[in-house]
Amino acid sequence: MNQSSSLTSSLKFSRCSKKLVTRIFFSLYVCLVMFALFNFKGRVQITYPSYMFQKTKFFCQIKEKLGPVKLNMYSNVSLLKVRMRHKDVLLGGEWKPPCRSWQKLAIVVPYRDRYHHLLQLLDRLHAMLKKQLVHYKIFVVEQSGKDKFNKGRLLNVGVVEALKDQPFDCFVFHDVDLLPEDDRNIYHCNENVHHAISALDEMRYHLLYYNNLGGVVIISKDNVFRANGHSNSYWGWGNEDDDFNARTMEIGLMLTRPPENIGRFKMVRHAKLWRESHGYELFLTWKSRWMSDGLKQLNESMYKVVSVTVNQLYTNVTVDFGPAPLQMTTPGPKDTRVSYFWFLNFYFP
Ligand SMILES: *[C@@H]1O[C@H](CO)[C@@H](O)[C@H](O)[C@H]1NC(C)=O
Ligand SMILES: *[C@@H]1O[C@H](CO)[C@@H](O)[C@H](O)[C@H]1NC(C)=O
Ligand SMILES: *[C@@H]1O[C@H](CO)[C@@H](O)[C@H](O)[C@H]1NC(C)=O
Repeated sequence: MNQSSSLTSSLKFSRCSKKLVTRIFFSLYVCLVMFALFNFKGRVQITYPSYMFQKTKFFCQIKEKLGPVKLNMYSNVSLLKVRMRHKDVLLGGEWKPPCRSWQKLAIVVPYRDRYHHLLQLLDRLHAMLKKQLVHYKIFVVEQSGKDKFNKGRLLNVGVVEALKDQPFDCFVFHDVDLLPEDDRNIYHCNENVHHAISALDEMRYHLLYYNNLGGVVIISKDNVFRANGHSNSYWGWGNEDDDFNARTMEIGLMLTRPPENIGRFKMVRHAKLWRESHGYELFLTWKSRWMSDGLKQLNESMYKVVSVTVNQLYTNVTVDFGPAPLQMTTPGPKDTRVSYFWFLNFYFP
């Protein structure tokens, strides 16, 4: 009798405790979901290196009041005038602040045939970066010949050749036709990948899409090597920037941008919405290629340095890639595609 009553009571208890346990689990689960929802962050973070303005004994402190500048894109800049304005720049396009710089930047500009744009960019960058008290050097990497432009490979060459020159710790990949409109847009590396553009005049001061990473990309040396640089395989315009973006996602980097009122740019060309169609084809296979196709793969058989010329405002690295392959859609037989879901999620997160 005694025994059986104790048995039923223990049974009751276990039933009761089971319910309790499920309830606790359920409420915990709800809490977790709520927590996740409220802490949801897209990949993009707005950042600003305000430490550069703070008082410090050891590093440069920006004391000058910085702000937006008026740019006249139709002005006739001449080499002579730009040179006169930047007499303090060292040969090869290098400048050092009179204090200890936070970082050492290599500005890599992939280039061909846009001399007027280049002059405007050089004038603008030298003016801005000097105010930001950073130690930097500008490398213009020019693709010789008339074959299709291979921007990714030019950027990889820029990294390799710049590091032969000096141990830079931060890289700025800069399109020749984009001019920063605000001196407060500090070019600097953080532990993520920094997109210096948050608003483009061509797009009525918007971006093409939220997860966009192109035009002016700033990334530390360590991270650019972890991502294996850019793909060497995109010939012609389009998608090499998306490919690089996917790589930075793969190694777990967030994407940072300056506040929208600061990250404003003028685009001198007209934005091309139409991309090479093989670009998307190739991009779909990025995941099976990224470890091999990139900075590590780059060797003397993939490019020849035609000349390295030290100019007053920049270092001119001219390279020859040989002819572009006839067959542009080059995913190899072993390349596999990412899912369309991944693809959609990339453009519309
Ligand atoms: C720029 O230079 C061109 C020719 O060199 C001249 O025709 C034009 O008027 C100049 N524009 C301005 C704004 O000075
Ligand atoms: C250079 O890279 C190409 C293509 O990846 C490869 O076939 C070749 O063996 C490499 N050459 C050297 C010297 O590493
Ligand atoms: C860079 O150097 C090459 C070869 O010396 C030359 O043809 C080209 O015009 C130069 N480009 C610039 C932008 O200085």
